[in-house]
Amino acid sequence: MKLTIDDVRSRFIKHLGGEPGSVYASPGRINLIGEHTDYNGGFVFPGAVQQGIIAEIRPNGTRNVRAYSIDMKDYVEFSLDDEKGPNATHFRFIYGVAREMMKLGVPVEGFDTAFAGDVPNGAGMSSSAALESCYAFAINDLFYDNKIEKMELARVGQRTEHNYIGVNCGIMDQFASIHGKAGNLMRLDCRSGEFKYYPWNPKGYKLVLINSCVKHELKGSPYNDRRRSCENVAKALGIETLRDADWDMLESVKDKISEEDYKRAKYVIGEYYRVLAVCDALEAGDYETVGEKMYETHAGLSKDYEVSCEELDFLNDIARDCGVTGSRIMGGGFGGCTINLVKTELYDTFVRRAVSLFKEKYGKSPVVIDVVIGDGSRKLC
Ligand code: GLA
Repeated sequence: MKLTIDDVRSRFIKHLGGEPGSVYASPGRINLIGEHTDYNGGFVFPGAVQQGIIAEIRPNGTRNVRAYSIDMKDYVEFSLDDEKGPNATHFRFIYGVAREMMKLGVPVEGFDTAFAGDVPNGAGMSSSAALESCYAFAINDLFYDNKIEKMELARVGQRTEHNYIGVNCGIMDQFASIHGKAGNLMRLDCRSGEFKYYPWNPKGYKLVLINSCVKHELKGSPYNDRRRSCENVAKALGIETLRDADWDMLESVKDKISEEDYKRAKYVIGEYYRVLAVCDALEAGDYETVGEKMYETHAGLSKDYEVSCEELDFLNDIARDCGVTGSRIMGGGFGGCTINLVKTELYDTFVRRAVSLFKEKYGKSPVVIDVVIGDGSRKLC
């Protein structure tokens, strides 16, 4: 994390006055494979990154929250008992988390807070989940003696997206932000909630993100439509989620569902099997297979799930032309980054080529982000 405690503390004191409070951090995430599977009860394979949110928080003995966003240079004051909450999205995350914690019986009190982040916005690295997880973790620590378990904190963040932001997301991002562990990816079964840490130390390979900087905002995007398509197919099959579907079942309802819904489900079922194949490959140290599956995911996300864009397909083609082991869109899609598994000796050539060809075609440089797997939500001081 480039951001330091002092960056946040100095502004906290400047804008909110008084004594220092407690400081918390929560990261963004990457996802190796398993995209749009979380809300279908499937598997995901995320890890926390070093970039994240840092927030300073100090209870103020009132019912009001006074919040300063360092990045947006924006201040708001709202009551915890207000039914509507603030308008600005960056403050609605805090309001939503506080309200969802109150619904769980947490005696949330008013607080003063300042926060800043270094997760690039709209990159598909879950800057919003970082913010939600940071406040859920902090409120649990400050007002409830950490009595709420971590998976429930992740669900608080998810419900905040559903109820206050309007994105019907799955659990992956908030799960990863809360549970992250340096040097480890995690395989989460989104149906049962069971997860396992996988040490991530692929000798001879690096993970690098290339951010197309195409604006990605899931709110108001067709993200919710994708989810609805999956639910339509599950309903036609008489099952709860597509986790319980296979190819034959999908074929059996082909005539009863729209062509579009068919394509969406086809991708999701394929992705379920790809994640399992990647788990086996990782256990065998077979990164070539991991990479192959990543390319297959990209093709599915682009052609069947239709959440790619020209710029991301272009970056994926460059990766393939350069001989990069694996490459695909990461996160919800509609812009943001590709995640690339690249042999160390190819790294410089690939990054140089991707930047220069992209710039030549689109007139602006994409941003290169080296992936370092970091820790999840924590108290810094
Ligand atoms: C977004 C959502 C997640 C997940 C991904 C796609 O990041 O917040 O829940 O659905 O998209 O895998």
